[in-house]
Amino acid sequence: MPKVRTRHRCTECQATAPRWTGRCNDCGAWNSIVEDVGAATGVGAAASVGRLSNVGGDSAAPIATGIDELDRVLGGGLVPGSVTLLGGEPGIGKSTLLLQALGAVAAGGRSALLVSAEESAQQVRLRAERLGAAPPDLWLAAETDLARVLAAAGEVLPDVMVVDSIQTIADAELPSAQGSVVQVQACAHALVALAKQRGTSVVLVGHVTKDGSLAGPRALEHLVDTVLSFEGERHHALRLLRAVKHRFGATGELGLFEMGEAGLVGVPDPSGLFLGDRQHGSPGSAVVPAIEGRRPLLVEIQALVVPSSLSQPRRSAQGLDGGRLSLLLAVLARRAYTGVGNADVYASAVGGVRIVEPAADLALSLAIASSINDRALPDDLVACGEVGLAGEVRQVAHLERRLAEAARLGFRRALVPPSTPQRHGPLRLERVATIADALRAVGISPCVAPASA
Ligand code: TYD
Ligand code: MG
Repeated sequence: MPKVRTRHRCTECQATAPRWTGRCNDCGAWNSIVEDVGAATGVGAAASVGRLSNVGGDSAAPIATGIDELDRVLGGGLVPGSVTLLGGEPGIGKSTLLLQALGAVAAGGRSALLVSAEESAQQVRLRAERLGAAPPDLWLAAETDLARVLAAAGEVLPDVMVVDSIQTIADAELPSAQGSVVQVQACAHALVALAKQRGTSVVLVGHVTKDGSLAGPRALEHLVDTVLSFEGERHHALRLLRAVKHRFGATGELGLFEMGEAGLVGVPDPSGLFLGDRQHGSPGSAVVPAIEGRRPLLVEIQALVVPSSLSQPRRSAQGLDGGRLSLLLAVLARRAYTGVGNADVYASAVGGVRIVEPAADLALSLAIASSINDRALPDDLVACGEVGLAGEVRQVAHLERRLAEAARLGFRRALVPPSTPQRHGPLRLERVATIADALRAVGISPCVAPASA
C-alpha cells in the first residue's frame, strides 16, 4: 500500500502547506487552510516519464463558439478537454453569454450541455427562446447535485458543457455546505477530471463580488486552464471580457459586448461607440487613444471644475483612477499654474469603460484645464502621454497603434511626448515636453485659475 501524502492549501493566498495549521504561514490569514482534494499524491506510484520530444502534439483544434468577441479572447475557441472559469459579479451577464454561446455551438452541429444549478428549466427555456438560442441539440440539466451532473454528462457526452454556477452545485458525500471552498474545489476537481478524460470543453461560472467575499473563484484559478473575467458598470450596457489566465494563448485580448434587449451583442468597432455621443466644442472634454487589453480604444475624458461650497472640496473620478486625478491636480497647480483651488472636481471616462493607464494623464490634465478656463479643445485633437511629477510628458507603450486608431477615426492632431518618432500619415504630431507646453499648444495660457480666487 503506497503511503498517501495529502497537501493543504491556503484559500486566501493559494500557498501550499504539508499539514493543516490554524493560520497560514505565508499570508497570516486565520482558518484559511483546507485540504487540497486533488493534490493527494501516491508516493511510490509508477512514474510516467518520457522524452519531451516523444510527446505527441495536441492536435485538438479549439471549438469556435460562434460568438466572435468570445472567440477572440479565447484565441479561437474552447480547447477540447480544457476547463474555463468565467467569473464576474452577479447580474453582469455570465448566464446570458454562455447560453448564447452554447446555442451557437449546438447550432453548429456540436453537442452542448447546460447544467443550470441556479435557474429552473422553464426559466432557461424562456430566456433561450428570447435570445433565439434554443436549437434542438442544446441539452439542459437543471441540477445541483454533483453526481447527477456527472451522470448527465455521461448520458449526453457533450463537446461543450457549461456549469452555471460552480458555487451552487455540491457533492452530497461531503459534509461542507454548498458554496463553501471545500465544496467548490471538490466539484471543480471532479469536472476537471471529466474534461480531461472525455475531452469535453467545460466552462464553469463563478460569481465574484468586488470585495471578493464570495467563496470559490479565487480558489479555483490554479485548477483551471483559462480564467475569464466579465466586467462592466451596472448602469451601462458595455461589458468587457478578458482572459486573466490562459494556458492556450495570450491574455491580452479584450472582448466587448453591449447588453441589450436581445442579449449580448459584440462591439467590433468600440472607438465609434465611445465617441458616438460626443458634444463638439464643449469645454472639459479631451480624447485619449487608450489601450484596453491589446485593443486601441478612443475614449472621451471629461472634467468639470466648479466652485465648491464644501470645506473639503469634492474629487470624483468615474472610470478613472482617483489617486491619479489628485496627482494631476497637484502637478497642474504647481507646474502649470493652473490650480483648482477650493473647487469641486468631477472627472470621468465616458461610456462605462475604466481607463487607469497613465497614458491618459495628458488628456485628463487637458480636460481639467479646459474646464477651468471654460475653453473647448479642438475637436480633431487627441492627447496621449504620462505626466510626471515635474510636469514632464513621458512616453507610453504602443503609441504607434494608438495613433493609427486615432487617424482611422478622423482625428488630425495629436499631442504626444517629445521622444515620439516621426511617422507618416494624416495625423499631425505635436511634441510637448511639459504639461505647460501642452496647454499652450491648445491655446490655454498657464495661469492661476479663476476658481481658486
Ligand atoms: P445574467 O446573464 O443572468 O447575469 P449573471 O448570470 O452574470 O448573474 O444577466 C442578468 C442581467 O442581464 C439581467 O439584469 C437582465 C439583463 N439582460 C438584458 O438586459 N437583456 C437580455 O436579453 C438578458 C437575457 C438579460
Ligand atoms: Mg447567472
